[in-house]
Amino acid sequence: MAHRQIAIDGPAASGKSTVAKLVAQRLGGFYINTGDMYRAVTRAVLDAGIDAENDPEAVVALLASIDLRYWLVDGVPVLHLDDAPVVQDSIRAPEVARVVSYVARIAGVRDWLRERQRETRALGTIVMEGRDIGTVILPDASHKFYVTASPLVRARRRLAQAGEVVDGATLASVAAEIAERDRIDSTRAVAPLRPAEDAIHIRSEEHTSELQSPNTI
Ligand code: DC
Repeated sequence: MAHRQIAIDGPAASGKSTVAKLVAQRLGGFYINTGDMYRAVTRAVLDAGIDAENDPEAVVALLASIDLRYWLVDGVPVLHLDDAPVVQDSIRAPEVARVVSYVARIAGVRDWLRERQRETRALGTIVMEGRDIGTVILPDASHKFYVTASPLVRARRRLAQAGEVVDGATLASVAAEIAERDRIDSTRAVAPLRPAEDAIHIRSEEHTSELQSPNTI
């Protein structure tokens, strides 16, 4: 069968990772998480002591000294920063969540990552999740989905995800943090978060059983 490209976009904690992983599993495709790529760059930026909000030039300059790529390990794409696999705990930390939107709005960062994201097409059938996959990265994707959920459901989910929120976080504080990230992601000048015109919209509330059967593909 011909290789397919599936684009899955949506805001933070919308449930798109769950959908994307299931679809990849069903299709025997490779799951690519572009949010992890932005988070890994952010980790490197924080480790280098750069202030991403106020010093985007330093962020872009840092890119020349790092390598970020998906490598196949036992047939599974694993994101590597330089020669080491990216550890989920290190990119899910609250300090990364706080800064990642500032990193993701820098045009030089998006240009740099775009090529690395498109490179994964060489793997075969890919299911790629992010914010601009259907609009910018894979405009010719065979299938495009835009996954959303209400702010309350998303905040609840985020709160339940260990490690992603600071100790003592409340539903209200998490909802506010998600809303701020959405605001930055959807109002930035380059590749803002928005559905592709030809995307199928999925509302992922509590109906996880529906997510078990992505039979639109
Ligand atoms: O999906 P996520 O929450 O892990 O994404 C982390 C951040 O990266 C989020 O603030 C938006 C940004 N991002 C983006 O701008 N474009 C993408 N394709 C993927 C993520």
